[in-house]
Amino acid sequence: MKKLLVLLAAIAFVATSALVVVADEGPAVIKMSTEKMGIVTFDHAAHKALDECAVCHHTGGYEKCTSCHGVDPKAKKAKLAFHKQCKDCHKKVKKGPTKCKGCHIKIK
Ligand code: HEC
Ligand code: HEC
Ligand code: HEC
Ligand code: HEC
Repeated sequence: MKKLLVLLAAIAFVATSALVVVADEGPAVIKMSTEKMGIVTFDHAAHKALDECAVCHHTGGYEKCTSCHGVDPKAKKAKLAFHKQCKDCHKKVKKGPTKCKGCHIKIK
């Protein structure tokens, strides 16, 4: 019985720390579905390893980009903001896709 309690406590500990990590770090892979352009699969974990958080999360917080872009008139529409951030960096570092189909995968 004692062993079982220890085991349960360990599971509870692992479960809560996993939740905390997810909340702070965001998902490892983010699938963004669009109306007409299929799905953009963004490897967040791989990109996090490439650069500072603030390069992309430029406001210092980690809200969704669409909580401002497309809402706040001072912020560009979401499509323009994503394209600018994603493609500009890929062009700059000469790595990562810059053609439509490199990011937008249509499934039929
Ligand atoms: C190359 C760009 C990039 C880098 C670098 C990056 N992120 Fe992100 N992150 C994104 C994008 C894009 C999203 C999706 C936002 C959305 O859904 O609007 C996201 C989502 C998130 C979310 C979830 C937001 C939500 O509410 O859904 C968290 C938390 C997060 N990132 C934390 C981090 C942390 C911490 C770092 C640095 C260790 C980091 N990110 C580095 C681009 C980046
Ligand atoms: C809290 C609101 C807010 C959030 C969240 C936010 N942005 Fe922005 N963003 C703005 C505003 C306002 C501007 C225009 C003023 C400025 O440059 O700061 C801007 C500017 C930009 C620009 C520069 C546009 C240009 O013409 O140079 C890009 C690119 C961008 N945001 C992408 C993103 C991405 C991608 C995310 C999510 C990872 C994000 N933003 C999250 C408010 C936000
Ligand atoms: C700060 C620079 C930077 C930004 C911003 C950035 N990327 Fe990248 N991306 C890279 C680099 C560098 C690679 C190449 C990684 C490699 O080959 O190891 C890459 C590779 C990729 C790839 C192909 C490899 C993979 O992960 O499957 C995709 C797809 C991609 N990026 C999508 C995006 C999207 C979508 C965004 C915007 C939400 C974005 N990237 C923003 C630097 C960036
Ligand atoms: C580096 C990756 C990348 C490349 C290259 C790219 N896109 Fe995108 N695109 C995105 C991301 C990320 C979004 C935002 C998805 C979302 O709304 O969540 C987006 C959004 C869009 C949208 C709005 C989607 C909708 O239906 O709501 C359209 C249209 C679009 N892209 C067309 C294009 C076209 C056309 C090209 C080639 C000229 C292109 N994109 C190249 C990443 C990319």
